[in-house]
Amino acid sequence: MRRFATIAAKISERKQMNPQIDYQSLADRYQTPLYVYDFDAMKSRYNTFKNAFDGRKSLICFAIKANSNLSVIAAFAAQGAGADCVSFGEVKRALLAGVPKYKIIFSGMGKRDDEIRGALAEDILLLNVESEEELERVEAIAAETGKIARISVRINPAIDAKTHPYISTGLKENKFGVDIETAKKLYLRAKKSANLEAIGIHFHIGSQLTELSAIAEAAEKVAELARNLIALEIDLKFFNVGGGLGIAYKDETPIAPADYALAIFMAVKGLDLTIVCEPGRFLTAEAGVFLTRVIYEKKAGKKRFVVVDGAMNDLIRPALYGAFHKVAVIGAEDHSGENLCDVVGPVCESSDFFAKNIHLPDVRRGDLLAIYAAGAYGFAMSSNYNTRRRAAEVAVEEGKDRLIRERESYEELFANELSLLKN
Ligand code: LLP
Repeated sequence: MRRFATIAAKISERKQMNPQIDYQSLADRYQTPLYVYDFDAMKSRYNTFKNAFDGRKSLICFAIKANSNLSVIAAFAAQGAGADCVSFGEVKRALLAGVPKYKIIFSGMGKRDDEIRGALAEDILLLNVESEEELERVEAIAAETGKIARISVRINPAIDAKTHPYISTGLKENKFGVDIETAKKLYLRAKKSANLEAIGIHFHIGSQLTELSAIAEAAEKVAELARNLIALEIDLKFFNVGGGLGIAYKDETPIAPADYALAIFMAVKGLDLTIVCEPGRFLTAEAGVFLTRVIYEKKAGKKRFVVVDGAMNDLIRPALYGAFHKVAVIGAEDHSGENLCDVVGPVCESSDFFAKNIHLPDVRRGDLLAIYAAGAYGFAMSSNYNTRRRAAEVAVEEGKDRLIRERESYEELFANELSLLKN
């Protein structure tokens, strides 16, 4: 039994690791902790996704919150992708990375006035509004600046997406979007307004979804509403199904993009609308590996800790969601004598771990560990906690590697405070 489990683990390890990428030499050259992204894998993911929607008008807006490195966004833009943004900072990133403004969407439930103003000035595709209060602000700012704001409304379809509670967004008690009745009111209000043009309808029920039925149910509910709105002469053009497709961190069975697209096609039957998707994780997670070196092994009674130079400030998913990320020792062919251990970072929190109770071979100071499926919500959620510099990021594309974000320097860390320090 154990042998089969090991073989299965090895196969899944090989699947997650691009054999063409020499992590050891990248770590030597760029130092650790380090994020490495396989740009060819990201592009191939994008094309698989886009092709699944063949036969209908579609726009794939990469959810740049998942990985907001400018070079990553630019790589998707070069493939034809748009960008789904949740702050004006992200809108700026998308523009800097070369995403055409007519492919940029600005979502998020708490946009400040300056962000709304900025988005209207940039003339992006649309603002996705999440409440009546927000619609009023968008209308007022558009009127003030003599513009017509293109909008969509985020519908909360009250559906259980069956994912981690922190990343479930389509339940009635979640803060996101508006219910169907309120949505109708908002569309009718927009129709009467000289400064609003409602062109889209949107939902997003959660992230890391593995249940197609929940997505299909939400799509059907929202499509039904779209039909009613069109009957009321609201001129919708975009049907936005959000993001959320899950990946296999461990043993999950992800939804195939073709099945996903088919479920959406069925829901929007008869509707002549462009389908918009906002995938984040699906496009980047498995193309990214986080590399970290062993500082030392610490034994405390029977407990074995592998202490590494990366930490929760670099990759917070295990600490925040109890998320599983596969960890492997690079170059350790012989896994005999594997012992249970926790892989932990140097941050002063007990939640600073990458994995608990996993089997790893004996390691020595300087050995390299890979943490897989780290290309989404990895660097993007990193921080300077414990005054740690954020990691460098490297792209590997067509057999060549290049730095896409320098490791932060101590000078950069202190810059905004040092000049303000009283003597
Ligand atoms: N669209 C909207 C409106 C969203 O809120 C999100 C994610 C996406 C698209 C992209 O979802 P994706 O395709 O990546 O699942 N930090 C968490 C995930 C938070 C997701 C937030 N919203 C994690 O590390 O699992």
